[in-house]
Formats: sequence, C-alpha cells, structure tokens
Amino acid sequence: MRIAPSLLSADFTKIADAIAAIERGGADWVHVDVMDGHFVPNITWGPKIIGDLRKLTKLPFDVHLMISEPERYLHDFWEAGADGLTIHLEAGPHAQRTVTQIRQLGARAGIVLCPATPVAMLEDIIEDVDLVLIMSVNPGFGGQAFLPGSLKKLREARALINARNPRCLLEVDGGVGKENIAEVVAAGADTIVMGSSIFGTPDPAASIRELRALAARDGAGLP
Ligand code: DX5
Ligand code: ZN
Repeated sequence: MRIAPSLLSADFTKIADAIAAIERGGADWVHVDVMDGHFVPNITWGPKIIGDLRKLTKLPFDVHLMISEPERYLHDFWEAGADGLTIHLEAGPHAQRTVTQIRQLGARAGIVLCPATPVAMLEDIIEDVDLVLIMSVNPGFGGQAFLPGSLKKLREARALINARNPRCLLEVDGGVGKENIAEVVAAGADTIVMGSSIFGTPDPAASIRELRALAARDGAGLP
C-alpha cells in the first residue's frame, strides 16, 4: 500500500517543513492538487511552484490535474518534475489521447473519476492508463466527508483492473482517515491520498505511521 499525502491541507508558508515531515513519516508519494478555478471552484498552484518543490524531495510527485483542457499543460507539469499526471475523464472528450500523450512524455498516466461518473466509463480506456483514481469527495477542497458510495466504485474498479490491466494502480482521494482507511484498502485501493487526516494533526509523520498500521491491521480482516 502506498500513502500519498496531499499538500493541499499543509500550511503553504511552511511547505518545506511539511514535505520533510511526510518524508520522516515514510510517505511513498507527494500528492499535488492542481486546480484552475474553472474545472473546480478553487485555485491552487501551477508548474512554477511544483518545479520549486521538486528541489525539496526525491519522493515521486503524483500530480492531480483538476483543470480544464489538461492537454495544454502536460509538458509544463512534466518538465516541472511530475512523475505521474492524472487527468479527469470529465475534463474533456479526448481523454484517451491525453493519457497517451502523458505516457509519451514518460510519466505515469492516470485517469480520475468524479463521484457522479460510473466506473463503466473506464471500460474503453483501462488498458491505456497506469493509474485509476476514484474521487471519494467532489473535487475542489480538502476536509470533506467521504462519500460511502465510493467503496462500491473501488470494488468495481478493482475488478476491472484485475481483469483487464492488472499492473494499473488504484488510488482513492478524499475524506480518508483513521476511521475508514482499512475499508478503502479492503475495497481494493492500493494508493491512498490523505490531506487533512495527515496535515490536520499535530504530528503528520506520526499520523502517517498510525494510518499505515491501521490499514494493515484492520484491512486484512475486512471482506
Ligand atoms: C480534493 C483533493 C484532495 C484533497 C483531499 O479535491 O483532490 O487531494 O486534498 O483532502 P482530504 O484528505 O482532507 O479529503
Ligand atoms: Zn487530489
């Protein structure tokens, strides 16, 4: 299981400390949320900041593009140091072309579904991606409540991945914490994004270790 802390919930004035803390806690990836104020009702950061952050850590950057027309910015984010680029299926009609462009850059190509988009929409793109991300909140903000229907979507996505592209990763993002990390792992997620349940705690490094232990201890017994 991979833990990918989302920097969205960190104090942006102390971002170097935040990255050092998650490294200490054993984070596997850094999840970077890019929002354009158009695809989602919030704005965060662009390639310049990601390029600057790149100098602070060797951890892979998992860049979640909550932007319209992501194809226009792939090269910039890749050049800034993104290891994986994940685009929303809902961001435009040509997702298959966009994920192919991501692979051509040499980055891990991810596709993400909003809560209202069924897993069946992945059927004709599953072999073209390296990662599927299931949003378990409506994208745009940290600290929202986990939508329970996401567990069924994770199980469906896991079945599709196992049948058609077993090397594909399955990530979940939004509202995951101590109370439900075991459930999302049991439902098939192998990569867990968490923002507020890491950076909203006094000791983010300790929280990562605790979350990982809970997933291992409780996840095993669940169906
Ligand atoms: C939401 C972002 C998430 C967010 C998750 O649109 O994609 O990555 O930071 O935050 P939590 O874990 O607080 O729900
Ligand atoms: Zn995200």
